[in-house]
Amino acid sequence: MYQSVLVTGASSGIGEACAVHLAHKGFRVYAAARRVELLRNLEGLAGGRITPLALDVTDKDSIDAALARINEDGVSLFGLINNAGIIAMGPVETLPLDEWHRQYETNVFGLVQMTQAVLPAMRTVGKGRIVNIGSIAGRVASPFQGAYASSKHAVEGISDSLRREVAPFGIQVSLVRPGFINTPFGEHGRQALEPHTQDGEPYAEQAKAFMAWRAKGHPNAPGPMIVAEAVHDALTANKPRAYYAAPAKSYIPLAMRHFLPTPLTDRIMARVMGKDKNQDAS
Ligand SMILES: NC(=O)c1ccc[n+]([C@@H]2O[C@H](COP(=O)([O-])OP(=O)(O)OC[C@H]3O[C@@H](n4cnc5c(N)ncnc54)[C@H](OP(=O)(O)O)[C@@H]3O)[C@@H](O)[C@H]2O)c1
Repeated sequence: MYQSVLVTGASSGIGEACAVHLAHKGFRVYAAARRVELLRNLEGLAGGRITPLALDVTDKDSIDAALARINEDGVSLFGLINNAGIIAMGPVETLPLDEWHRQYETNVFGLVQMTQAVLPAMRTVGKGRIVNIGSIAGRVASPFQGAYASSKHAVEGISDSLRREVAPFGIQVSLVRPGFINTPFGEHGRQALEPHTQDGEPYAEQAKAFMAWRAKGHPNAPGPMIVAEAVHDALTANKPRAYYAAPAKSYIPLAMRHFLPTPLTDRIMARVMGKDKNQDAS
């Protein structure tokens, strides 16, 4: 009997890699996203253990319909991988409030809504695992990522509270913090930031420098499989870790946050992201 897991945001990037990797490792995978046509490509893989599911994490009816579909298979979910995410980018001052709402609807409230939907059944059987995909940005916030980084900071807090709440019910919660991973997410971020780099925008020069730094990071980053491996560990280890990070060099910014004085971290970030040059030039 295969254990069953639901992966949100499985039509692309990290979620797709998780779906395929977990199915290859023997899980029965419900691969969920809004673009079902992309999920259909996964159907024949890994011995047919991947089932595509239409799901919008911001839409309660859609979540209920997806879980009803899983129930029809007589399946009790062992794992939920809260991976679906979007990225809004721009200065805190000028990023429109509706972008902040959109960011939180998916990355925060969507994750909470999914978690609330699966927990009653997991508590009833007395076991289960929830793996939340956070971000290094959930610990270390770069400029122009106020909306995104704060949404991932929220995921950190939610994961810590949840882990402590559900442990007595036999349910374990892990948070996976990816650093730069080469997926379409890099391009989504670039598109989101671009309007803020235009002439006349108050932060245009800094935003351009940040965009150039980011453009070097994403395409040269490792692929999403390293995150899928961390997720697999979180689902299968006897004692899953509360926190995972991937790739390994993501531990550098995490250590900076812990060990360096904040003014020094600010100066290092400004230098690495090219802001010093702009400030010197102006
Ligand atoms: N790539 C990185 O460098 C990186 C770094 C740190 C953290 N992360 C995190 O990793 C996760 C996955 O990112 P990725 O790199 O794989 O990005 P991606 O390739 O853009 O994939 C995002 C996935 O989320 C899904 N999604 C978005 N809104 C959704 C909604 N309302 N309901 C259901 N699914 C939704 C998308 O599917 P549909 O559009 O088909 O619904 C897509 O499958 C995100 O939480 C992201 O914050 C990524």
